[in-house]
Amino acid sequence: MNRKIIVTSALPYANGDIHIGHLVEYIQTDFWVRFQKMRGNECVYVCADDTHGTPIMIRARKEGITPEELIKRSHAQHLKDFTDFQIKFDNYYTTNSPENKELSEEFYKAAEAKGYITRKTTPQLYCEKCQMFLPDRFVKGICPKCGAPEQYGDSCDKCGATYAAEELGSPKCTTCLGSPIVKDSEHLYYELEPQHDYLEKWIPEHTTSDVSNKLLEWFKEPLRAWCISRDAPYFGFEIPGCKDKYFYVWVDAPIGYIASLKNAGKIEMWNDPNVELYHFIGKDIIRFHCLFWPGMLNAAGFKGPTKVFVHGFLTVNGEKMSKSKGTFVSARTYLDNLPPEALRYYYAAKLGGTTDDMDLNLSDFVQRVNSDLVGKITNIASRGGQMLQKKLGGMLGQIDEEGKALIKKCVDAGETIAKHYEERKFNQALVEICRLADAANEYFDKREPWKSVKTDEEFTRTTLTAALNAFRIIAIYLKPVLPMYADKAMKLFGESSWSWASASEVKENCALGPYEYLASRIDIKQVEAMVEAAKAKPGESGEVSHESRASKNKDAQKQDTITTAQTAEPLKGEITFADFDKIDLRIGVVESCQIVPKSSKLLKFVIDAGSLGKRTIFSGIRQAYPEAEKLIGKEVVFVANLAPRKMSVGVSEGMILFAGEPGVNGGVVTPLSPAGGGVIVS
Ligand code: MSP
Ligand code: ZN
Repeated sequence: MNRKIIVTSALPYANGDIHIGHLVEYIQTDFWVRFQKMRGNECVYVCADDTHGTPIMIRARKEGITPEELIKRSHAQHLKDFTDFQIKFDNYYTTNSPENKELSEEFYKAAEAKGYITRKTTPQLYCEKCQMFLPDRFVKGICPKCGAPEQYGDSCDKCGATYAAEELGSPKCTTCLGSPIVKDSEHLYYELEPQHDYLEKWIPEHTTSDVSNKLLEWFKEPLRAWCISRDAPYFGFEIPGCKDKYFYVWVDAPIGYIASLKNAGKIEMWNDPNVELYHFIGKDIIRFHCLFWPGMLNAAGFKGPTKVFVHGFLTVNGEKMSKSKGTFVSARTYLDNLPPEALRYYYAAKLGGTTDDMDLNLSDFVQRVNSDLVGKITNIASRGGQMLQKKLGGMLGQIDEEGKALIKKCVDAGETIAKHYEERKFNQALVEICRLADAANEYFDKREPWKSVKTDEEFTRTTLTAALNAFRIIAIYLKPVLPMYADKAMKLFGESSWSWASASEVKENCALGPYEYLASRIDIKQVEAMVEAAKAKPGESGEVSHESRASKNKDAQKQDTITTAQTAEPLKGEITFADFDKIDLRIGVVESCQIVPKSSKLLKFVIDAGSLGKRTIFSGIRQAYPEAEKLIGKEVVFVANLAPRKMSVGVSEGMILFAGEPGVNGGVVTPLSPAGGGVIVS
């Protein structure tokens, strides 16, 4: 009997681009879903953008657009990225939907009716300038445990301590750099302790032992209540009956899975006892999916997941993805330089269904794709297909005894490979598939068709027929990993659909379609170009440099010789005269200007500002001024009352004003000069 399955991937945040780390998740979920569909199971893959929360609000504010506009734009970009990576959802929705609002309220009311919602007043940091309570990630200060400076409001990077934001020494609002005050705020809490026993039993049954062992440590004590409200301003759903209180984004985010299913017209599947439900997630969000979420579902009378599949994190060349090393690569930057199949193939070759981190070693990546996908697998089709077309009229013949043994080997491997896919051991599946390709190549080479074609056409046809049939079966097994590749291969054999069962058929005595290019070698140069392009991309997700966003974007466009689409820079939000009047512009003379070692962007200026003394200022304009010393002696306009900013290379004490047109090799970016015309530097 066919299975019925719902599959989800975690909902990506709408405030950032999809990157190759995210893709570890979406690509493997896609493998699994495509495999299930090929097996004839009814499988529905739903996902959505996770659109709520403070970072989205702040980002929209910075760009001078509404959060709705921001999430609309992200939705389109995300979906395009996924589609171009051949990731196919049955529905890709949004958490900012009427379905989700209604379901979130339903979940909340159910918990309230059970007495799980409590209220507590807690002191919290409040920024009077920004007029908002500060979320943990919007405060920095001195760690209360080890004294390290510049630590976020939830935990310390240096000593690993976790604490409440109010415990930080000298806290600063990361938005305005002002000092917040402590103010009382009432919050809503979701009590988990009433479900202590339920969850303690549930967790080991629905997660792997490494995941459950970790979670169960918390069960030695009463479970801590979870704060589910956030103060206005917040982009999210208002909590029914609580003015100016919003559901914390992690309340409505997982409910977004159900909302997406509902939007797809398949809501009845969720609670159907015959339907299996699987969540694919990364190891950073286990707590939300394996503790809060099953509790919420249980309280609201919804079925929980059959299993939560947890994967590890992506490293590149053995290290965390890094913007400065150019290994923080967005999906788009990858696609601008390399084919999606290559990454899909490599991820499959590395993923084994465990929570271990996974490394993308860039030279191994090139080597593996070229030697296995192109050299081993595709080679069978290109050698065999082209010879059959050119020399033998494109007609497949009959397979002889030796060929039958090869085909049998391929067919017999089917269930082993299927088992690997089912268990998400994609790496094992590819090992088996490569073994079959080795056998096919061995057969081909041993029978030397390039020689026999001169003397015995029919013997040669027999050889090519077997080799091409072996390739056909291999391509069917590869279809979950390389769907478009498999489609092209399918057309070569004149077929219109392939399921897993198609692998047990053979194609004899029929015409082969025209040989279409399937995959070509990739070059380390493409990888290098990708890394360079990634370095040039503007910072995101918390990476705030002292440069304004506009000038950072200029940098990105300057080096962007490979990417094609240049999006217009939207205006930032309107400012009042009073805002403008806060800026103190002064004139200074560039006393020295040097390149900063290890930075591709920064120039270090010392400005002689007369009565104000000397100022050191870092500016991200190196691309436009490869000969830094040309700026020495120029008069420039700079913002003199900007708060000093500590950067990794030193403290920057102001901002020099530049204007101009970005373009190739830096374009023309000119410092504003009091003389009026700007100092043009060639
Ligand atoms: N919005 C939440 C998920 C809500 S689900 C109800 C979120 N979003 S995310 O954009 O930060 O991450 C989406 C998924 O991508 C998560 O499962 C996360 O673990 C995964 N990954 C993000 N970066 C990753 C790597 N560098 N490596 C592997 N997976 C990564 O969390
Ligand atoms: Zn502030």
